[in-house]
Amino acid sequence: MMIISHRGASGYAPENTLKSFELAVKMGSRAYEFDVHRTRDGVLVVHHDFDLKRTAGSPVRIAALSYDELSKINVAAHFTQDPSFQRVPRLEEVLDVIAAPAEWLNFEVKNDDNLYPGIEASVTDLLKARGIEAKSLISSFDHGTLRRFRALSPGLRLGYLGHNLGTALLLPAMKKAREVGAVNFHMNLRLAFGLNVAKLKREGFNVCIYTVNQKADALRMRSIGVDGIFSNYPDILEK
Ligand code: G3P
Ligand code: CA
Repeated sequence: MMIISHRGASGYAPENTLKSFELAVKMGSRAYEFDVHRTRDGVLVVHHDFDLKRTAGSPVRIAALSYDELSKINVAAHFTQDPSFQRVPRLEEVLDVIAAPAEWLNFEVKNDDNLYPGIEASVTDLLKARGIEAKSLISSFDHGTLRRFRALSPGLRLGYLGHNLGTALLLPAMKKAREVGAVNFHMNLRLAFGLNVAKLKREGFNVCIYTVNQKADALRMRSIGVDGIFSNYPDILEK
């Protein structure tokens, strides 16, 4: 079972910052997940939320800021263990740190209601320019975004991200995942039971579960045949 550093080693360093990714690399991580947004002046950046309220205490939206403005804001302010200044990194900088050691890269593109028109082409171009298509997988909660990625690139590996799924909604979700040609199905730990995982595996999906931060859950995921877990602790199985 693959352990995917979720927002870097975000249990130990502020999520989605260079510090968090550098630490995950130091810990020997080979699989990474991170969230992609775009600034007002078109720079692809890595941050979870659409705004900076939770991480920096400022409700300003990433889409409203230039990169220069964004880079002056401390997004480690929420991380009580170490709130010293960390900025939102450019996606390119994150890839400079993790692309070489990574065997698997999950770009989660946050593009609800197509807030960032054209982001699919920018990300696809970046994968090509860096020659990392083969080890990259694109996922998004916004399924229109996945469809646009598919239209741009028939060979791109896509992951379907289930949003507010219940067991009853699993079959329709699988249908949508197949329609877009997803090879992966990512879902919440709440739904990660043997029967659900078996159904997905029978349909040929690789199944990855978020967010698994307790060792007991990680061991259960492994025992029911999950392919990967997103964890804030890259060393979760060694704890
Ligand atoms: O990509 C898996 C997981 O990160 C999705 O949820 O809210 O942590 O981006 P979220
Ligand atoms: Ca994510």
